[in-house]
Amino acid sequence: MAQESQRFFNENEQDVLEEILLHRRDVRGNHFKKDSISKEDIDRILQAGLSAPSVGFSQPWEFVLIHDQKTKQAVKASFQQENEKAVHEFTDVKKQEYIKLKLEGVTEAPLNMAVFYKPKNEPVLGQTSMPNMGKYSVVCAIQNMWLMARSLNIGMGWVSILDPEQVKKILNAPSENQLIGYLCFGYTNMFYNKPELEIKKWDYKKLQEEVVIQEKYS
Ligand SMILES: Cc1cc2nc3c(=O)[nH]c(=O)nc-3n(C[C@H](O)[C@H](O)[C@H](O)COP(=O)(O)O)c2cc1C
Repeated sequence: MAQESQRFFNENEQDVLEEILLHRRDVRGNHFKKDSISKEDIDRILQAGLSAPSVGFSQPWEFVLIHDQKTKQAVKASFQQENEKAVHEFTDVKKQEYIKLKLEGVTEAPLNMAVFYKPKNEPVLGQTSMPNMGKYSVVCAIQNMWLMARSLNIGMGWVSILDPEQVKKILNAPSENQLIGYLCFGYTNMFYNKPELEIKKWDYKKLQEEVVIQEKYS
């Protein structure tokens, strides 16, 4: 235990982490290979999730692993329904661009994972003033898994164009659970070097000076 807390990282290790962070990408359906993900890799991804920080060490997460194609098809139907509605939120050029985007990989990905927030029935240390902290903790777990998957050259895509209540129904999820992320995982032979939405000019990458404020807002 004491030894573990003495772990310091060298420059090479720091560079590797930076590389993984910079090359993490959202991978969508057109880039997943069919090969199933090994149990060893799934466990490493899950362990990364379980190692995430959580408010008051509450670990308020549950992970549903989905291999069944029928379940994926039901979730895909929810995506199609929600995406139909989403198209109408955009107008003119953006609408035309939106229609062309591939925004999920539910049926193509060998593994889907629904990640839930499971609220506690008692006060949680650190969550007494800001009730969303538990949900943010689940997002930390998702990010850990995204990075671990990337280090294993496994692509992950986050699909949020879904009706969360419909997904809960499909998965028989307990009523108190809240869907935080619906994730698609699969091996892939290509990772973009930049966000696909940047390459396709949907939006530009913000610069540090645009988002960092020194001391106070003026
Ligand atoms: C909370 C969250 C929800 C997202 N939902 C979707 C989605 O529904 N469909 C999609 O194609 N990408 C989704 N993404 C991926 C983003 O589009 C992507 O992260 C962003 O364009 C930057 O690209 P990168 O992750 O490859 O760096 C989501 C990402 C996050 C963090």
